[in-house]
Amino acid sequence: MDNDKESKGSLDSSLLNSSLPNSASLDLEAYWMPFSANRRFKKSPRMIKKASGMYYTTTTGEKILDGTAGLWCVNAGHGRPHIIQSIKEQLDQLDFCHTFNLGHPKPFEFSQHLTAAFPQMFNHVFFTNSGSEAVDSALKIALAYHYSKGEGHRTRLIGREKAYHGVNFGGTSVGGLPTVRAVFGPLLNGVDHLPHTLDIKRNAFSRGLPQYGVELADRLEDIITLHDARNIAAVIVEPVSGAAGVLPPPQGYLQRLREICDRHGILLIFDEVITAFGRLGKICAAERFNVMPDLITCAKGLTNGIIPMGAVMVSDKIFNQFMQGPEEVCELFHGYTYSGHPVASAAGLATLQTYQKDQLFDAVLNLESYWENAAHALKDSPHVIDVRNIGLLAAIELQPRADSPAARATEVFQKCFDKGVLVRNIGSTIALSPPLIITQEQIDTLFQTIGEVLQSVA
Ligand SMILES: Cc1ncc(COP(=O)(O)O)c(C=O)c1O
Repeated sequence: MDNDKESKGSLDSSLLNSSLPNSASLDLEAYWMPFSANRRFKKSPRMIKKASGMYYTTTTGEKILDGTAGLWCVNAGHGRPHIIQSIKEQLDQLDFCHTFNLGHPKPFEFSQHLTAAFPQMFNHVFFTNSGSEAVDSALKIALAYHYSKGEGHRTRLIGREKAYHGVNFGGTSVGGLPTVRAVFGPLLNGVDHLPHTLDIKRNAFSRGLPQYGVELADRLEDIITLHDARNIAAVIVEPVSGAAGVLPPPQGYLQRLREICDRHGILLIFDEVITAFGRLGKICAAERFNVMPDLITCAKGLTNGIIPMGAVMVSDKIFNQFMQGPEEVCELFHGYTYSGHPVASAAGLATLQTYQKDQLFDAVLNLESYWENAAHALKDSPHVIDVRNIGLLAAIELQPRADSPAARATEVFQKCFDKGVLVRNIGSTIALSPPLIITQEQIDTLFQTIGEVLQSVA
């Protein structure tokens, strides 16, 4: 502890003199970085100063090609002028107003255009501030839906192994990544998990949807037999698992899940925090795969990552159930101070306009086969045991090192960064999800850099 610091409890006198510090003089200690090896990072920080289009610039001036769209979120690319301008205009007009029995126009306007962009039955939207909150909101909406139908016994939630649904208690409970769950105790009661669908033995180097694994959806029937359908509220899955290392669903799998849920009155939730807003060439994966869930969670590309915001897209069936009691009574005792925040709503609306103006979802469909070929060209590179892809998502799965399974991918990440390319290492996987504005030339740079690095990694 630094005893020379001014006493706590009063504002630091240097605060008012503070301008943009140069990174060499920055004290990194106070900020506890999320999902990070804090001590290692702070010994050798990688600091970004600015971003534009497809590139970050570091504080030391290197340009870094963004192969990850920030964190799967900056789908329209960095620094989009129309979005920034809309945020500024909104700030000049109205900085904050809540929406608990009060209103301001922006979230209504945004909701109208957002629902128009989603598949037909999604005509309502509940705003949150993040993907994690969207997931927990969707789970609560599912429970409250059954309750309001007189089926309050439907309380069980079914997730899936290897799933990532954010970090709140609901999402952590239905999630299936051991490291994300392990140290947080028993989590929610009454949760069960489907098996994951990663099957490298049968499906290695699949292009798009893997051929094998539809039968894994039938395991839901076993879970239903065990717990009794009348006790189950909802099944939640990512249509394409992201944080587990990009796992496209086996052919027919999502359709099969939908059929089983329908047979048993169970709601189906798609967590589309990564897959919505063009990542798969459509507004959402439900549309791409033509399988309609009851609720869709989204965030990230909702505002191009510029302002935090999440949303639950709510189908008519669910919404209408809530709108039946006395009009003067609040229909859902749930919400956030910042639900429908004016600045976030302005960012979201301008983001949708940008997607439309630049036809970015179609751009993904046009690029998809080029992207796929570039990814699969790494098939014979050292250490590569699988390549998976769909839309503008790809994963290069590396043979884990026996002594330290994630070390090789971490090294690849570091070496790519040093060569001016940002990739994401997840366990032994390199995951890629660039802004949708990426060009063929930039795709070449991305995969060629990874290929070179793989040659140099033990
Ligand atoms: C599928 C999915 N759900 C939920 C989340 C959580 O979103 P947030 O980090 O905005 O809370 C993520 C984040 O990556 C995600 O990929």
